[in-house]
Amino acid sequence: MTCRQRSCLTLGVLLAGFLALAACDQPVPDVSPTGQCAPEDLYMGEPEYFQEVMVPELFEPYCALCHWSDKTTPEERRGATPGLNYDDYDSAIRWNSTSLNFGTWSRVSTRNMPPMGRTPSTEELQLLVQWIDCAIAVQESGDDDDSAGDDDSAGDDDSADR
Ligand code: HEC
Repeated sequence: MTCRQRSCLTLGVLLAGFLALAACDQPVPDVSPTGQCAPEDLYMGEPEYFQEVMVPELFEPYCALCHWSDKTTPEERRGATPGLNYDDYDSAIRWNSTSLNFGTWSRVSTRNMPPMGRTPSTEELQLLVQWIDCAIAVQESGDDDDSAGDDDSAGDDDSADR
C-alpha cells in the first residue's frame, strides 16, 4: 500500500462528491418515442422484459416511491395519480394510451418526473425510449401470448389464398 490511510480517505470523499455530482441531471438524449421497434428488439416490449429489466433498472429506483401498487393512500403515494403504477405492465403501458404512452416520456424527458431525488441518466433515458417504442410495437402487433382465443383452432388459416 503506497497510499496512507488519511489520503485514501480524502480521495474517497472527493470521489464520492464527484460521483454525486456526475449523477445530477445528465443530458436528455436527443430522441423521442416513435412506436418503431426493430423486429429483433420486439422482445423488449414483452412483459418478461418489463419485469426483468425495466422494473429493476428504471421504474423501481425512480418511480417506486410514489407510483407503486403497494402504495394505496394519497399520502403513501405522495399524491401520484391513482392507478398509475410502474410495477404493473398493463398500467405502465396503457396509461395515456391515446398518446401511445408518450405521457410517460413527456414527463420524464422534461425532468418533471421524478419530482424529487435522483433522476435517470442519459443511458437510462435511452433505454426508456426504446422500451416505449417496443412496448407500443408489441401492443399494436397484437403479439401478446396472453390474449385468450387467439389461436386458429378452426383450422381457418391464412394459407388458404396461397
Ligand atoms: C415523489 C413522488 C413521485 C415520484 C418518485 C414519481 N412521480 Fe410521477 N407523479 C407524482 C405526482 C404527485 C403526480 C401527480 C401530479 C402531476 O401530474 O404532476 C405524478 C404524475 C405522473 C404522471 C402523469 C399522470 C397523469 O395523471 O396523466 C406521469 C406520466 C408520471 N407521474 C410518471 C412518473 C415516472 C415515469 C416516474 C419515475 C421515473 C415518476 N412519475 C416518479 C409523484 C411522483
